Amino acid sequence: MKRESGHQGLDHLLDSNRRWAEGSVREDPTFFQRLVEQQAPKYLWIGCADSRVPANEIVGLLPGELFVHRNVANLVVHTDLNCLSVLQYAVEVLRVEHVIVCGHYGCGGIAAAERATPLGLIDNWLRHIQDVAERRRAVLAPETDRARRADRLCELNVLEQAHNVCRTTIAQDAWSRGQPLCVHALIYRLSDGLLQDLGFAASTPAEPAAELASAIERIEARVKRR
Ligand code: CO
Repeated sequence: MKRESGHQGLDHLLDSNRRWAEGSVREDPTFFQRLVEQQAPKYLWIGCADSRVPANEIVGLLPGELFVHRNVANLVVHTDLNCLSVLQYAVEVLRVEHVIVCGHYGCGGIAAAERATPLGLIDNWLRHIQDVAERRRAVLAPETDRARRADRLCELNVLEQAHNVCRTTIAQDAWSRGQPLCVHALIYRLSDGLLQDLGFAASTPAEPAAELASAIERIEARVKRR
């Protein structure tokens, strides 16, 4: 009996999948056939694993149009073979033209890093966010409101991760080959479903450091104006 109920646990998902597949074919009879033959996405999305930030939906892209990597708090860690492999495949094989690092306000990973209450293995992952907070202490310190401080850390984290993408051998090699590749930093607000561009756009090896510095200056100025 127990086994049977376990097997039925996903019934509604499988039913919904059949309806989706049938609907897709009704709207576009060659939809799946085209996807079997090739995928040619223009964008790589590196986002948070948070269930409320579904990459394709929020930018209105169909299957085949967005290559996606998601992890807790959208981190790009230089020793993370998973993220690096996705990046390498996206840039060198699929030849995406844009890498989008997308964070979101209200990120549980950012909140956990700030609280620093032990959660287990994931604390090692969240340590990277604490490193960002420490490195950008001067920007964060004047922000006395806790919620706003967390928002600023979400923004700073996205910017640092976009900068990390630029520093990988993958982005550097693409640029030295003359391959068009632009790295962007976006942030998503759960409460209104809107994306905001954090003003970081790097498409040559000379740009990332200055883009990071000026985007962080804008955050700093906003904190001080308050
Ligand atoms: Co998150």
